[in-house]
Amino acid sequence: MGLLDGRVAVVTGAGSGIGRAAAEALAKEGAAVFATDIDPEGLEVTASNIAAAGGKVETKQQDVTDEALWDTVMEETEAKLGRPSILVNNAGIAIGGAIPDFSLEDWKTQMSVNVDSVFLGTRAAIRRMQEGGGSIINISSVAGLRGAPGLSAYCTSKGAVRLFTKAAAVECGRAGWPIRVNSVHPGIIDTPIWQKSITRLGEGMPILPDVPVGANALDADTLGAQASPMGRPGRPDEVADLIVYLASDKSSYINGQELVVDGAMTAGG
Ligand SMILES: NC(=O)c1ccc[n+]([C@@H]2O[C@H](COP(=O)([O-])OP(=O)(O)OC[C@H]3O[C@@H](n4cnc5c(N)ncnc54)[C@H](O)[C@@H]3O)[C@@H](O)[C@H]2O)c1
Repeated sequence: MGLLDGRVAVVTGAGSGIGRAAAEALAKEGAAVFATDIDPEGLEVTASNIAAAGGKVETKQQDVTDEALWDTVMEETEAKLGRPSILVNNAGIAIGGAIPDFSLEDWKTQMSVNVDSVFLGTRAAIRRMQEGGGSIINISSVAGLRGAPGLSAYCTSKGAVRLFTKAAAVECGRAGWPIRVNSVHPGIIDTPIWQKSITRLGEGMPILPDVPVGANALDADTLGAQASPMGRPGRPDEVADLIVYLASDKSSYINGQELVVDGAMTAGG
């Protein structure tokens, strides 16, 4: 018996990192998973991992900023696997850069991929979960809780995800729709987004509040280790375990909350 037997989950950004780990962990607990990503090759790896472990999975290439595609994703999920009752809005990007040099185009791209997508996904999910219920899990970040130099657009996008989540939870509750909505705030997790955000940032721009200027010369592993009192970055499966918990009935009274998984990075010095 799995925690999620009989449930159907949609996971975005499932072709890499946290999304792949979440899709695999949800499937391991018995959920049928509809995995989407803009990157079809990454999706194939995720699908074959799930299938090899005996799980049920369907995939679709999806750009989460494409409004019309969200209806298709939900319709196909329902047709192939059944009514979705779990949505993990995970797909995201991080565009780094100092504010004086940051372009409006990059700002809008950051908001579109990280914020518009969460609205579109949540809207599509609520339309299908009003009857029968569900759990929506939005992946924010510790960058949605506090600022970080060189990451103003990313921090803004993740802060928006945090508060949209709370508004959606309150709205669903007051409307009598049995849908919980929570946000997950990972610290530094060893995935491609973390490795890439290091290289994208400009020279001399620290990307963590507590790391001195010039630290970009350090590699991602060293920076990740410095940032957490536990002395190491987190693993995608450590975030996935929290996602499974929020998807399951074990968290039936946890709603509208921000759950941090950061190895004590934001707990103090
Ligand atoms: N890794 C970290 O340190 C960390 C920390 C906090 C929050 N997060 C958040 O976790 C989520 C997952 O990130 P990750 O660390 O696994 O990174 P990742 O780069 O490994 O995975 C992100 C996935 O999103 C997909 N994606 C990007 N743009 C897309 C689009 N427009 N449509 C559909 N898919 C798209 C990518 O193809 C990729 O597979 C993101 O929202 C990220 O902001 C990551």
